[in-house]
Amino acid sequence: MLGPVILAASRSDRMRRLISAAPVTKQVVDRFIPGEDVDDIVPVVQGLAERGLELTMDVVGEDITNPAQAAAARDSYLELIDRLKPLELGTRAEMSVKLSMFGQALAGGHELALSNVRPVVEAAAEIGTTVTLDAEDHTTLDSMFAIHEELRKDFPQTGCVIQAYLFRTEADARRLAANGSRVRLVKGAYKEPASVAYLDKHEIDRAYVRILRTLMQGEGYPMIGSHDPRLIAIGQELAHQAGRKLDEYEFQMLYGIRGEEQSRLAAEGHRMRVYTAYGTDWYGYFMRRLAEKPANLRFFARSMLTK
Ligand code: FDA
Repeated sequence: MLGPVILAASRSDRMRRLISAAPVTKQVVDRFIPGEDVDDIVPVVQGLAERGLELTMDVVGEDITNPAQAAAARDSYLELIDRLKPLELGTRAEMSVKLSMFGQALAGGHELALSNVRPVVEAAAEIGTTVTLDAEDHTTLDSMFAIHEELRKDFPQTGCVIQAYLFRTEADARRLAANGSRVRLVKGAYKEPASVAYLDKHEIDRAYVRILRTLMQGEGYPMIGSHDPRLIAIGQELAHQAGRKLDEYEFQMLYGIRGEEQSRLAAEGHRMRVYTAYGTDWYGYFMRRLAEKPANLRFFARSMLTK
């Protein structure tokens, strides 16, 4: 029951100010977001890569209010890519972007987001890597998929995310599996109405399995974005049934969650990519992590009370 309340708070400016100003918040945030700027994050990238893990990098931020902020978001990715260049990690360190941060919700937002994200995709390609478009709330997805299709004309490796909780996703998965796309499948992290999404956990899990089967049997590259042990085991079985080799799909998890399982899968020879977020505008990202697991909120509340 707590999840929806926290997700509602993730969109509240008042809660943003209260929580961001609390002195202990930072300690809890650090578990999920290991740095505020690019200098913090380069050693983290190196450390994960040395452990045999791959990365997808997210500069946190969303819900921007003017085109200058969208341009600044683009520039922060360009700076990151520039700093990753000497590490020569290629696709072992790719980028994840939220189109809202590139201006998608502003006037003329579709074109603005496309014009801001394209240079990031180009710069990523120059250092031999790729970009994946994150999925945000359901109202943004037609635009996200159209931008994905547009970018794939020049950069076919550009990936996108689909969310198992949405009714529309089975059809999206069939289309993307047929056209050979890289696709990350996740359960979904936004507060969605019952008119567009499954709200029941078991129904979401069942949809996840159906969609993953479609992706595994298709022509594309499935990326299993989940920490759920059951879905990870099913993912391996579906890959096996589809005759996929270990480098023909991958697992993805978030930084700070189930680190031992990440190392175990990598040690077994799986491609294991860690979604690593950094930056100062961490509020929305952090609140979604709290909403996913009530124990995180209890830990957060306890650290506030004992301070
Ligand atoms: P589930 O929530 O059932 O968790 C399974 C187990 O994992 C839990 O029992 C717990 O042990 C652990 N766990 C999960 N979340 C935790 C947390 N926050 N803290 C501590 N432990 C936790 N969503 C979206 O809408 N758009 C997107 O673009 C993305 N992108 C994305 C990338 C990657 C790499 C991942 C892994 C996830 C996303 N998500 C996302 C988030 C996703 O939709 C979902 O909210 C979370 O992954 C949690 O769902 P699980 O599949 O992990 O299962």
